[in-house]
Formats: sequence, C-alpha cells, structure tokens
Amino acid sequence: MSPDAGTAGPVTAPGTITGEGSPTAEDAAAPYERVERYELSVNGGVRTVEDAWLGESLLYVLRERLGLPGAKNACEQGECGSCSVLLDGEVVCACCMLAVDAVGSTVVTVEGLTAGGEAGDVQAALLEAGGVQCGFCTPGFVVAIHDLLRRRPDADELEVREALSGNLCRCTGYGRILEAVRRLQEGRARGVG
Ligand code: FES
Ligand code: FES
Repeated sequence: MSPDAGTAGPVTAPGTITGEGSPTAEDAAAPYERVERYELSVNGGVRTVEDAWLGESLLYVLRERLGLPGAKNACEQGECGSCSVLLDGEVVCACCMLAVDAVGSTVVTVEGLTAGGEAGDVQAALLEAGGVQCGFCTPGFVVAIHDLLRRRPDADELEVREALSGNLCRCTGYGRILEAVRRLQEGRARGVG
C-alpha cells in the first residue's frame, strides 16, 4: 500500500484539527482523553490521523499510525537524536513534540529525503566508511548530515562535530561517521553521488 493510501473520504485541509467541537482549554489540560482527527503534511503528502490522542508524540504517530518506522525510538527524552526528522526544514526530535503540534507544518522523515525512499549518498557514505554497526542511530545521523550539508556543504570538522553532537551512537566511536561525512563532502565536491 502506498504511504498515502487510506485517506479516502472527506478530509480536512492540512492545518486543521477536527473532533467533537473545537479544542478547548480543558482538552489541553487532558490531552490523553480526547480522540481526534487531524492531518499532517509528511514527505510531500497529506496524511490523515484518526482516533488519536492529542498526547501522542510525533514519533509515535509517524511510526505506529503512519507506517514510517525510519525515525527510531531510543531514549524518548530528546537525548539521542535517533528520532530526528525535519520540521519546516529544521531538525527536531520527534519524540519530544506532540504530533498535533506539527499540524500546519511540513514534516520530512528519513524515508522522505530521497525520491522513492531509496538510500541516498548519505547512507552510502555511512556504509562505505563503516559508520553503521547496529544501525539504530543511523536514520537520525542521516537526517542530521543531510541537513548540515544542505546548509553548509563545506562545513569543517568542528562544524560537523557540532552539528552531529545531538546524535548519539553506541557502537561506532564516531570516527567512521565523521569519515563518512568527509568522504561525502569530497564526493559531492567532485560531482559524485
Ligand atoms: S528517541 Fe528522541 S531523542 Fe532519543
Ligand atoms: S551504529 Fe549502533 S548506535 Fe550507532
């Protein structure tokens, strides 16, 4: 099934939340008790979320409701970066924000970074440099590296280290991840990748 299947029937425009009446102050005070229907803009499509609690994180909704398991749940505390996604072009931890707070914004997950969800040159560089072991941190690194090199293609090592400082890896020791970024920069500078 395509990622956007299942949105048949009346849908609301992105940026709206519907339920039994408009959300009230009481809803905000009791987010776990209200069932809602809302729409999110994810990876270039409009996705409908139904029968959801307002208290669900963006990470939970992406993974469990929208079938996008790329972002990983490791700490669920904003510490590890495994759940990184782009929200309006900025890297955010999807575990630390409510999905309903993404209504009206554009969400891009690791699956949406490349056409058709295929592995891109960032993934290839990580694999070739040995920057992937268990792989649990990898999607978060891919999102962070993608974002960094979009903004700063010539970032020096200090900038790379700083940009990736919110992403924790328990396996590689980081050297190979940094090497992957260096190779990626070289490859892109040569027009490869
Ligand atoms: S799972 Fe979100 S920061 Fe670790
Ligand atoms: S490769 Fe295992 S946590 Fe990074």
